[in-house]
Amino acid sequence: MLIQFTLNNQPVAVEAPSDITLLALLRDHLRLTGSKEACEVGECGACSVILDGELVNSCLVAAPQVSGRSVITIEGVRAPDGGPNDMQQNFISYGAVQCGFCIPGMIMAGEALLLKNPQPTRQQIRVALAGNLCRCTGYQQIVDAIEATAKSRARQRA
Ligand code: FES
Ligand code: FES
Repeated sequence: MLIQFTLNNQPVAVEAPSDITLLALLRDHLRLTGSKEACEVGECGACSVILDGELVNSCLVAAPQVSGRSVITIEGVRAPDGGPNDMQQNFISYGAVQCGFCIPGMIMAGEALLLKNPQPTRQQIRVALAGNLCRCTGYQQIVDAIEATAKSRARQRA
């Protein structure tokens, strides 16, 4: 079937089987491999993307469900010059990236949180990351990086 939607703020139309997941659509049909494939049952958050402003596990979304909707993947998160944005830069600066496998999902969870709650508490950041597993157990630095991003964005808005 033809699936048409907005991907990282660009319209796309892609022919794909109707019985695949959004994760498979992104990785196998659109060659966007930043969303990671791990548990495939909604338990790890490695495949997280933002669908119409909401964080979702793309392994649990049927590809046809995104028709007419807006999907943001890690490939759509970047600074205006195409380099790392402030959140990604903070993940680097705070030492939040170890093996890196969970990091695209963590960044998407952080961005989804700040869309809804621009100045979260550390506890709210932890709750927002509850569905994202880091096998390297780098949670402290990940929370630090998201908190620093929220604070610097708040300063820029002031
Ligand atoms: S691969 Fe989707 S939640 Fe783990
Ligand atoms: S940095 Fe390795 S899984 Fe999180």
